[in-house]
Amino acid sequence: MREAPPAAWAEAARSARDRAYVPYSGFAVGALVVTTDGRAFFGANVENAAYPASICAERVALVKAATEGETPPAALIVVADSAEPVTPCGVCRQVMAELCPPEMPVYLGNLAGDWIRTTVTALLPGAFGKEALSGHGGRAE
Ligand code: THU
Repeated sequence: MREAPPAAWAEAARSARDRAYVPYSGFAVGALVVTTDGRAFFGANVENAAYPASICAERVALVKAATEGETPPAALIVVADSAEPVTPCGVCRQVMAELCPPEMPVYLGNLAGDWIRTTVTALLPGAFGKEALSGHGGRAE
């Protein structure tokens, strides 16, 4: 659905792009996780000369919220200088499915101001999750 996030969230995600470390792709991405208690956690992509060691903006923000936040994520906003609203990679979708409520809103945008509002479950239907591991000796409930 074409729907922009609150203006303050969009601006915060755009500002997060300034912290991107992108010497290889030049493609700066900004992300913002807002938690249910209203705290904000920023992310930007951080690349590496060993390319697969690079980390996407979404995962930086999600992991900061998971380790520094007190409450679960309530929204994720992602923005890049792309022709269409930026689309998260498969690994980030899997991490969203692990750390966020399934129906949590995810806003994807570009610098032209095009926005899509989607959800975690719409981005990764049928995600592999902790339920699949129950009864297999795993430690997650
Ligand atoms: N990237 C993100 O940070 N988030 C996305 O949603 C798409 C891709 C990064 C990874 C890499 O640093 C650069 O963009 C090009 O793929």
